[in-house]
Amino acid sequence: SVVSKEHIAAVAAAIHDLLDNEEEGDLGPTLVRLAWHASGTYDKESRTGGSDGATMRFSPESDHGANAGLHVARNALEPIKKLFPDFTYADLWTLAGAVAIEHMGGPNIVWRPGRHDAKDASECTPDGRLPDADKGQVGATIRHVRAIFNRQGFDDREMVALIGAHALGRCHTDRSGYTGPWTRAPTTFSNLYYKELLENTWTLKSWDGPDQFEDPTGDLMMLPSDMALVWDRDFRKYVVEFANDEEAFFKAFASAFQKLEENGVSALNNSAASGK
Ligand code: HEM
Repeated sequence: SVVSKEHIAAVAAAIHDLLDNEEEGDLGPTLVRLAWHASGTYDKESRTGGSDGATMRFSPESDHGANAGLHVARNALEPIKKLFPDFTYADLWTLAGAVAIEHMGGPNIVWRPGRHDAKDASECTPDGRLPDADKGQVGATIRHVRAIFNRQGFDDREMVALIGAHALGRCHTDRSGYTGPWTRAPTTFSNLYYKELLENTWTLKSWDGPDQFEDPTGDLMMLPSDMALVWDRDFRKYVVEFANDEEAFFKAFASAFQKLEENGVSALNNSAASGK
């Protein structure tokens, strides 16, 4: 289906309204996570997965452990889908991620329409394509993060930039089992995540939950996969770059996030591109 620039602008305005009117102020980060989990299933070898199809609407993909809690984001977008029935779920979820980033002060993301919706679960991706936060051991966790993002076609600098989205939002015990935010400004898109990573002494939190790290105040958290970005020398140099240069981060993030959302999408409509 071909959607016009005016159509896209109207849907984007509805997403901005949704974020303005939402009580808790924490929907924005969850929309970003929905767009990432819809897209991050891409496998460059088989050219399967990615945002095209919006297959997370169907079980088993909706039930994959990594997607726990994302029904909150999917349900929040349902009224907008009803208002704009010609707009596919796959386009809506990815546009919502891009708009949420801009809404929270992040860079403009180039976004192009053209995704289709799968009719049933036949296009669902197998479980295990999204990253685990912990592989139990430093080296294994570093290798896992790199392997998951290489499979999608990202290099070290792109993956460090993408994970900088953890400036936003928080972990919820009833979703992932982890708890807490990465920064003290979780509804503002910024390079704070990298600064917190570098400037704190991170220690293992002692609690009943899964292994996670805490700063000296105990207010902030890091997953083992976040710590991988400072444990690994090659990742760490980009953490330092982005902590020192927010403009470089915004630029790298915007282009990596567009690539993430477009991986595996074959029928993008260029004439209606928005964002730049
Ligand atoms: C939240 C893991 C990469 C965006 C989370 C949560 C986990 C997690 C466990 C907590 C979910 C919850 O309990 O609600 C990981 C791992 C990654 C990764 C292991 C890679 C190694 C990314 C990327 C993005 C992203 C690439 C976006 C570009 C987010 C956002 C939240 C989040 C915005 C907050 C969601 C909310 O507040 O509801 N992530 N993530 N993450 N992630 Fe990631």
